[in-house]
Amino acid sequence: MFEDALEKVCQPVATANGLPNAFYTDPALFEREKELLFANTWACIGFAKDIPEKGDALPVDFVGRPVLAVRGADGTVKVFDNVCRHRGMILVDKPKRVGSTIRCPYHSWCYELDGKLRSTPHVGGAGVSSHECIKNQELGLMEIRSHVFMDMIFVNLSGDAPEFEAHVSKLTERWGEFVDRPLYHGGPESSFTLELETNWKLAVENYCESYHLPWVHPGLNSYSKIEDHYNIVETGHFSGQGTTVYNPQINGGKARFPNFYGLSDQWNEGAEYVALFPNVLLGVHRDHFFSILLKPISQSRTVEQVEIYYTSPDIQRENWSQSRNEAAAMWLEVFKEDIGVVEGMQRGRAAPTFDGGRFSPVLDEATHCFHQWAATKFKNATCGSKPHGLKK
Ligand code: FES
Ligand SMILES: [Fe+2]
Repeated sequence: MFEDALEKVCQPVATANGLPNAFYTDPALFEREKELLFANTWACIGFAKDIPEKGDALPVDFVGRPVLAVRGADGTVKVFDNVCRHRGMILVDKPKRVGSTIRCPYHSWCYELDGKLRSTPHVGGAGVSSHECIKNQELGLMEIRSHVFMDMIFVNLSGDAPEFEAHVSKLTERWGEFVDRPLYHGGPESSFTLELETNWKLAVENYCESYHLPWVHPGLNSYSKIEDHYNIVETGHFSGQGTTVYNPQINGGKARFPNFYGLSDQWNEGAEYVALFPNVLLGVHRDHFFSILLKPISQSRTVEQVEIYYTSPDIQRENWSQSRNEAAAMWLEVFKEDIGVVEGMQRGRAAPTFDGGRFSPVLDEATHCFHQWAATKFKNATCGSKPHGLKK
C-alpha cells in the first residue's frame, strides 16, 4: 500500500500523485525522514556568518541531534557532536564566543577548537589532572563531516554520503557565475525568521513553482509574471523556477546594488530560485543572493531562517541601509504571503480522502521533482536503519 503510493509519486508528472498524507501528518514518518532525507545526504544546519571570529561557536539542535559548529584557530569551520566525552553533558547551550577552548560546564574538561581533548582537571583525583586510563588522544570531540558552500554550513550526519563537491556539482555547473564569489551579509535587517505551522516539505513544494504567483503574490506578479518564468528540474538534486524579468524597484529605482563581478548577460534581467534538497531554498540575482534554511521542528512545524547577501562590503555601510531595509522588506512580504498557503496545505492533509493530489504537467514539474526525490529515497531504503557514522 505504502509502496504503491510511492510508485504513484514516481510516475511521470502528468499522471503522478503527490506524496501521501502520512508524509505530512505521521510523527513516525517524520522520524524516518530524519534519517532518509536528512542524515544520509548533505543538509544545511546554519550559516558561517554567524560564527565570524575564531572561537565562535553555534549550537544547533538539528533533526533531533545536538551539533556544534565552531570557527577554528585556522579560520575554518568544523562541526562536532555538541556533547562532552566524559559524561555526555551538552557543551555549548547558546551561540557564543568560547575563545580558544570549548570548556564543558559540568566537570570542566576542555577541548581545543579542532576538537582535541586538552585537559581533564582532577580526573585522577583531587589535584591530579590525568589518569593512565583516560587517554586524551582517544577522547576528542566527535567530528561530523561538514562543508561551507555559499556561506551555508552543510553536514552529512551519516558520514557516508558522496563528497560534497559531487553533491552540488549540478548546481555549481548551473550557477558557476555565483558560487565562488564572495558574499557579504546585509546585517541584522537582512536576517529574519518565520515560524510556520506546516511540514517542511510544503515550504519546499511551494517555493519550487511559480504557478501560484498571480493569486498569492500580486505585487511580485506585477513586474515578474507567471509567463516570464521557466521550470528548473535537476532530478535527484534540486528544482525550482527562474524568471526572465528581474527588475525590482528598490529605493524607488534610484539606487541599484552593485552586481556580482563578471556576470554574463543572462543575469541582467534573469533570476533563479531553487530548492537544493533537502532543506535550503536559494535565490540568485545579479545583485544579491538569499538563502532560506528550513528547520523541521515536527511533522507540522517548521522554522524558516532567511539570510540576504550582497556583492560588496560597501553594501554593509550605513549609506546603504535604506536600500538594504527595502530589499529585506520586499522579500519578507513575499515570504509572508506564502504562509497562508503552506499552512493551508498542511491542514488539508488531514482529509483522509486526499490522495496526495495531482500536478499541473506544465507548471508543477519542479514540485513533482522534489516529491520524486523524497519518494525515491524511501523506495531505496533497505530494511532496518544504519547507525549514523562518524568521522572519527
Ligand atoms: S560531563 Fe563534561 S566534564 Fe564531565
Ligand atoms: Fe510564493
